[in-house]
Amino acid sequence: MKKNLNSGAGKTLKEIIHALPDGMMVVDRDFCIDVFNTAMEELSGISFNRVYGKSVFEVFPENNNLIELVKKTLSSETTFSDYQTDYIKKDRQKIPVSITTSPLISSKGKTEGSIIIVKDLTTIKRLEERASNLEKMQISGVLAAGIVHEIRNPLGGIKGAAQLLLEEIKDNAEHKEYTNIIIQEVERLSRLTDSLMELTKRKKLFFEQCNIHSILDQVIFLEKARIDNDKIRFSRTYDPSLPDILASKDSLFQVFHNIIKNSLEELGEKGDIDIRTKFSREYHPVSKDTASKQYIVVEIQDSGRGISEEIRKNLFTPFCTSKPQGVGLGLALSFKIIEEHNGFIRVESEEGKGAVFKIYLPLP
Ligand SMILES: Nc1ncnc2c1ncn2[C@@H]1O[C@H](COP(=O)(O)OP(=O)(O)O)[C@@H](O)[C@H]1O
Ligand SMILES: [Mg+2]
Repeated sequence: MKKNLNSGAGKTLKEIIHALPDGMMVVDRDFCIDVFNTAMEELSGISFNRVYGKSVFEVFPENNNLIELVKKTLSSETTFSDYQTDYIKKDRQKIPVSITTSPLISSKGKTEGSIIIVKDLTTIKRLEERASNLEKMQISGVLAAGIVHEIRNPLGGIKGAAQLLLEEIKDNAEHKEYTNIIIQEVERLSRLTDSLMELTKRKKLFFEQCNIHSILDQVIFLEKARIDNDKIRFSRTYDPSLPDILASKDSLFQVFHNIIKNSLEELGEKGDIDIRTKFSREYHPVSKDTASKQYIVVEIQDSGRGISEEIRKNLFTPFCTSKPQGVGLGLALSFKIIEEHNGFIRVESEEGKGAVFKIYLPLP
């Protein structure tokens, strides 16, 4: 009797393959694509019709790692499991994936091709990154709390003594200058310890009705007045239909200010800063509670050099800075504030192509 492909649940094998959550394809011995499931179409952005019968070399010219794995599988007849790499789409967008390839062996023991499973790791990577950021914040929080405690009191003493000294040496301009330097530097350290306090403190934020656009406008207004430079171009694309949200106005001001200040510092003399707002109805698995909510997104993009891979890894960690005068607390603090709003921040940057910070704030 002819064996049919119906499974117990009444589904055909074809239906099952297309229902798989992971990308799956089958190639023959000549590397030509035979099967290409729905998840694979979604991940690659290419439809089955366009790949059927074509070779992997032709379909995935950007994806050497994938091609090499298929080659090795066919030549050595072995399985390669969970090879982690980036899948590169036609528009150069990279998707972190895990690839498993195994030989397709016929009942006669002949290798007839290879099965390739491509698993999209975007969500897992994002969750891992967030967990690692939170962990780093916690460790540095404990450290910082200790340091702040030890430094704050002596700073007050040094400043007080320097101010007394200043009164004593009124007539000596040189001594006055040195003493002023002491005072200025002590004040700088005080500001630093204040920021650290804020980072480590678990203060309850005051939530109120906020209009995101008006907060952004205030930040832009402040910075425009400060830089007094028409070679820096701000452009705004706001979605006027966005509702007000419940948030801490002062804290959000601080976040947008930190991020816009970084862009300005990166641009220096001239460049563009684009600020956009919109709805996001995508699925954003951040945690069990916040999955698939609706968000307001604020995107802040600049035309700077982008963020190096080295900095990118620790971007939200306290004291991560590439600037000689930098403290490296701005983004750590911003990360904490957005976490406290049950939102999240994403960064996209390619070195040399500017940076875009995307701040997601949940809607009720
Ligand atoms: N828009 C940007 N373009 C390039 N690099 C950036 C940008 N924003 C942040 N960075 C990098 O992230 C680092 C950390 O930023 P931040 O936490 O604000 O600390 P700081 O500004 O004191 O260095 C910066 O030193 C810089 O290297
Ligand atoms: Mg900064």
